[in-house]
Order: sequence, then structure tokens, then C-alpha cells
Amino acid sequence: MATFGKTVLLRVLVLILVLCCSWSDAYSLKHRKFDQIYQLGDSISDTGNLILENPNTRFSHLPYGKSLSKAPTGRCSNGLLMIDYFALDARLPLLNPYLNKNASKNHGVNFAVAGATALPFELLLTKNLSSFSTNSSLDHQLSWMLSHFSTICRNQIECRNKLRNALFIVGEIGGNDYNFALLMGRTFQEIKDMVPDVVQTIKRVVEKVISHGATRVIVPGNIPIGCFPLFLTIFQTNDTTAYDEHRCLKDLNALAIYHNHQIKRVIKELRNENPRTIILYGDYYNAFRWILCRASNLGFDEDSLQKSCCGIGGDYNFDLKNICGPEVPVCPNPNDHISWDGVHLTQNAYKFMAHWLIDDIVPKLRCIV
Ligand SMILES: *[C@@H]1O[C@H](CO)[C@@H](O)[C@H](O)[C@H]1NC(C)=O
Ligand SMILES: *[C@@H]1O[C@H](CO)[C@@H](O)[C@H](O)[C@H]1NC(C)=O
Ligand SMILES: *[C@@H]1O[C@H](CO)[C@@H](O)[C@H](O)[C@H]1NC(C)=O
Ligand SMILES: *[C@@H]1O[C@H](CO)[C@@H](O)[C@H](O)[C@H]1NC(C)=O
Repeated sequence: MATFGKTVLLRVLVLILVLCCSWSDAYSLKHRKFDQIYQLGDSISDTGNLILENPNTRFSHLPYGKSLSKAPTGRCSNGLLMIDYFALDARLPLLNPYLNKNASKNHGVNFAVAGATALPFELLLTKNLSSFSTNSSLDHQLSWMLSHFSTICRNQIECRNKLRNALFIVGEIGGNDYNFALLMGRTFQEIKDMVPDVVQTIKRVVEKVISHGATRVIVPGNIPIGCFPLFLTIFQTNDTTAYDEHRCLKDLNALAIYHNHQIKRVIKELRNENPRTIILYGDYYNAFRWILCRASNLGFDEDSLQKSCCGIGGDYNFDLKNICGPEVPVCPNPNDHISWDGVHLTQNAYKFMAHWLIDDIVPKLRCIV
């Protein structure tokens, strides 16, 4: 009888555990009680660093930010980005850019800079590559982060305490290293050869972040760049076998998959090396694919899935000589487009991706250990 009672109790306990780790817990970051978010990355996440670094970029002018009530914020979209939706979901204020010295940094900081690369810009220069907009590569952003930490805590123990409930997002980063190489005419093989260096650079930064006290880190992969109007235009071909079922370019998506594969492998290594830290893969690739697959259900215009909203010309409403800016037309309803300017996504696409990612990540934030 006692054994029977114990067995039942055990089953109930297991059931409760299973439930708590699955559907019973609403999928929201707010339940994870983060008090800060730290973001490193590029234009997918920049909420204003680049335009403070350089006020003359396209991103500091309308139509960027057109769907927000304020003037452009430096976000490379018509409105909000995924990081904004993560912050909102965690019930935290939107992340301020590091370079805005006046802004509150009590709930984390955004170090991402549009145009940033994973590889140090000095190294890219030796390969005859460079960013078109910034030298603030990932190592540079890391040094910003460390100098920020030195202002909020005095020693390792204090920093660990301070960062115990912080969420760190390292990426997406590395996409620009490949984008710039592609735009400068490098071959696919040359670009594939860059991947191990890019991924190791990201790994080293994650290690640093963990050594400073991060307990939960998301490392996002790359988006299917073969679906971007920019590359669809540059690599447009009559060879129908070059395209997949979504009419995206297979070779370019394969490059993103190759990078993502290595990121996932490095995450496994990092988990083995840091068993007490939760390190998760941010599956931006499949979040994007999900939008493509469900586009019409989500309210996107089937005929515009590969067209840039802000842009003009060609089959993809995109022209390298006439990219999105003050003089370039904007589609009447940005919400029915996935691509905002040929490279970056609309607020609506970012919103759906963020929600897909929250559903994917929140359950793992507690249960992975
Ligand atoms: C910070 O505040 C100063 C003084 O009020 C102001 O001149 C400056 O423009 C502000 N900087 C930013 C980035 O908002
Ligand atoms: C770098 O680019 C310049 C100008 O395009 C070219 O002249 C030079 O040979 C290149 N160097 C290397 C190492 O590829
Ligand atoms: C980046 O660094 C290079 C070399 O030091 C410099 O020439 C260039 O102006 C810098 N670019 C930006 C955007 O700061
Ligand atoms: C595709 O074929 C058409 C008709 O033969 C030709 O006009 C066009 O330039 C080709 N496009 C590309 C990208 O090769």
C-alpha cells in the first residue's frame, strides 16, 4: 500500500514536472523574470548605435521608422525589431543603444551596430573586405560591454550577482561578413571558408560573456539570405533549379544553413564547457521560414513576399542603385510585406518572428539543465 502510494505520488510529481516544462506554462519571457537584456549584433538588432556613430546614414532618415510615431530611431525597419518585442514580452523597457550616454541602462543595453561584422574589422581589411558602415565589430561591442559592466559592478562576485537575472543575446552576427564578401564578388567557396573563423569569434565572445556572469545566453543563427530581394536581384537567373519551393536562392540559403550548423555545434561545446549556464540557439532561420510558409494566414500579400516594400524596380522592387531612402517610394501597407528595404524586414515580419522565437525558447530557458 505504501509502495503504491509512493508510486502514485511519483507519477503525479513527474506529471507536474512535465506539465510545468510544456504547455501549462504560458510562453512568455515575463515568467522568466529577467531584469535586464544585453544585446550584441548588427542591423537586425541595432536600436540606435549606428546613427549616433554616424548621423549621415540612410537609417537616420525617413522612411526608416515611418510606422513609429517618433522620428527615425536608427532601427533598420519601418518600425520595431525583434529585440523590441523580446523586451516588451519580458515586461522591460525597450533597450537603449549603448552610445546614447543619456539613456537609462538600468534594464540592459543594446550594443548592436548596423553593418557590424563578427570578424574584427582590422582582420577583414587584411582580406580586402570591410563593412560599408561601421568598424564596431563584435570584439568592439564586447569591449563596450565590459566597460559598461565596470560602471555597474566592482568585482566578479558583484557582477555575477548583478547579472544573475539578465538575458544575453549574442547575435545575429556574422551575416554581414558574408554579405559584404558576396557584394564584393567573392565565390561561395571563399565565403564558406570564412565560416569557421566567424563562428569561433562568436564562440569566444560567448565565453567572455559567460565568464563575466551571464547565466542565460541566446546565440541566434542567420536568416535565409537567399530570400532577400537584395540577393534575389543580384543573383537573378533563368536557371529554375537555382530556386527552392519558396523561390529563394538555394546556394545562398545553403550558406546560411552551413553557418547555422556550425553555430549549433559550437553551442554544444559551450554547454559542455559551461554546464551551469543555459545556452540556446536562436533559430532565426526557421522563424523566417515559418512566416514564408504561413504568409497568407499571417496577413502578408502572397504577391509581395519577395518584394521590398521600400524600393523601386526589377522583379523584387529592388535596385542597388536606388535603395530605400528619402527619395524612394514605400509600399502603401508595410504590414503586408516581409522585406522592408531588400535586406531588413518589416516590423510585422519581425513581430511574428519574435513570437515564434519566444514560443521556441521560453520552455527551454528553464528546462534545459
Ligand atoms: C544627451 O543630453 C545632452 C544634453 O541634454 C544633449 O545635448 C544630447 O543631444 C543628448 N544625447 C542624446 C544621444 O540624446
Ligand atoms: C584588394 O583590392 C584591391 C582593389 O580592388 C586590389 O588592387 C588588390 O589586389 C586586392 N588585394 C588582395 C590581397 O586581394
Ligand atoms: C574604419 O577604420 C578605417 C581604418 O582605420 C578608417 O579608414 C575608416 O574611416 C573607419 N570607418 C568608419 C565608418 O569609422
Ligand atoms: C532570362 O532570359 C530572358 C529571355 O531569354 C533574357 O532576356 C534575360 O536577360 C535572362 N535573364 C537572366 C538573369 O539571365
